[in-house]
Amino acid sequence: MRRTDTCGDLRRSDAGRRVVLQGWVHRRRDHGGTVFIDLRDRYGITQCVFSPQVSEQAHQLATELRAEYVIEVEGPVTQRLPGKENPNLVTGEVEVQGEQLRIINASLPPPFPIAEDADVDERTRLTYRYLDLRRPRMAANLALRHRTMQLIRRFMDEHGFLEVETPILVKSTPEGARDYLVPSRVHPGEFYALPQSPQQLKQLLMVAGVDRYFQLARCFRDEDLRADRQPEFTQLDVEMSFIDQDDVLDLMETLFVELFRRLSDKRINSPFPRIPYAETMDRYGNDRPDLRFGLLIENVSEVLATTPLQMFRAAIETGGAVKAIRVPGAAGFTRREIDELTEIARGAGARGLAWAALQGEATRSSFARNLAPGELERLVERLGAERGDLLLLVADQSERASVALGAVRTALGRKLNLAAPDEICFCWVVDFPAFEWKEQEQRWDAVHHPFTAPRDEDLPLLDTDPGRVRAKQYDLVANGWELGGGSIRITNPAVQVKIFEIMGHTPEDVEARFGHLLRAFRYGAPPHGGIAIGLDRTMMLLTDADSIRDVIAFPKNQSAVDLMLGAPSPVDPEQLRELSLAVLVPEPEGAARR
Ligand code: AMO
Repeated sequence: MRRTDTCGDLRRSDAGRRVVLQGWVHRRRDHGGTVFIDLRDRYGITQCVFSPQVSEQAHQLATELRAEYVIEVEGPVTQRLPGKENPNLVTGEVEVQGEQLRIINASLPPPFPIAEDADVDERTRLTYRYLDLRRPRMAANLALRHRTMQLIRRFMDEHGFLEVETPILVKSTPEGARDYLVPSRVHPGEFYALPQSPQQLKQLLMVAGVDRYFQLARCFRDEDLRADRQPEFTQLDVEMSFIDQDDVLDLMETLFVELFRRLSDKRINSPFPRIPYAETMDRYGNDRPDLRFGLLIENVSEVLATTPLQMFRAAIETGGAVKAIRVPGAAGFTRREIDELTEIARGAGARGLAWAALQGEATRSSFARNLAPGELERLVERLGAERGDLLLLVADQSERASVALGAVRTALGRKLNLAAPDEICFCWVVDFPAFEWKEQEQRWDAVHHPFTAPRDEDLPLLDTDPGRVRAKQYDLVANGWELGGGSIRITNPAVQVKIFEIMGHTPEDVEARFGHLLRAFRYGAPPHGGIAIGLDRTMMLLTDADSIRDVIAFPKNQSAVDLMLGAPSPVDPEQLRELSLAVLVPEPEGAARR
């Protein structure tokens, strides 16, 4: 190795040393016959100076340098002149006098500037990802992801967990998304599935006596992509034996507090509140509450129980509710702003959004004139509202009213900048229902997955009222995001069979899909449970990234395409023949979707 130091190493104490640096030309400036090169590598930036007085030849070559050339500079380190230091660089007190310069490799002009954090079209960034990753923000994201993984590995090791790798070519797992399939050449017509998660394998590891397992596991799900979803993503996957729910929650909470205290400057709350599912649905209108701001949903049915206003009374009389949020200081919202909120409520299932703006002495309102005398005052009092506030109401089935107001609440949080950007509010959502009714398929489905244990006291309800069974399931939520989820598992084969029955699986179907797991449980399964945390989403929180693609080295775009590699792509007809496969879609259509 010829280089003596990296571009992040040199300090004032190095002045006088002769060094060899190698790296990329970050910036070049010509000042009155002197050429300044900011030389960059992963570790930092060092200023190199080329003047004809030091070396005619090196100076001449330096004038030919362009952005992203790979070069080698040799010369003495000198202290910068007083007033010429750069406090933004750790190497900013020194510079290297270029006595010798060698161009190792030229570069084409990059398709976007590397040195500036300019907004660049994502298509171009993903196509030239290796250049995008040179940009300081992306390089910092990669480095922080590395540090996060190291901290997790150390933490899990210190807590007695074994890191076990599970296979990538597996059998379909029921995590709710479509599988990515891999055809078998040796068994024509048969397929492996890529794991949506290592769920069943980690449970089998508990049967194997591993006791405490973790893995930074790659998972694959063919589902609609969003800003926080990739077809291929990473989980911190955990499973533990002889424990209960509190053990899992306490351990993960300790990890997350350590992770965020060590690797970010954000303020975090601790301990994390544990909020029952029913409560978060009621007060926040969703199961991933953003606790950084108020605007909680209130049930105001009581003060409107006898109202002459048909819309409200009908909802209450048919078992529904009138719910409201108070938006402090928003009475000045324009009609247009209120209409936008109404659209959001409608989009979330409400028929409309009733509103009252307590502006000055007057009250503008979509409904107040139809109330009985005194009702508006009682509503105002119930909500603790003051002049200047805006009241937003939805009358509907109780949950639908909450969900609609929840969507409005989230939108208001964003619109009014209510969430402090330097704060992270974690919470656990617990006591999820075990089943949800699938209207289209006319059957119950597991809210989490079919291996989730019902709460003991709800077991009798499996026979009478599955919809009311609560599960030993928990989600880790931060700032309105679902970071992770897990559960205590079923280890009683009879309960497991009953759950499959409720979900409409025939015994043959259960045997074919889950026979391996049920068989294993007949050989002495320890009680166990676990959790999986989305590592990519954790990295988004740590780095303040808006897109999951900013925390993954080589992500797919919104239509699941790797623009740099050009994947997916058609394959050789010979490969298809070997796999006994025929493609039905004509090729150009597939290509057109990118
Ligand atoms: P679950 O399906 O809730 O649970 O997934 C756990 C966490 O994984 C992350 N995640 C994703 N991240 C990026 N892109 C995606 N497409 C994606 N899908 C999920 C989320 C989510 O909270 N086996 C169970 C865990 C268990 O029961 O132990 C499981 O996978 O952050």
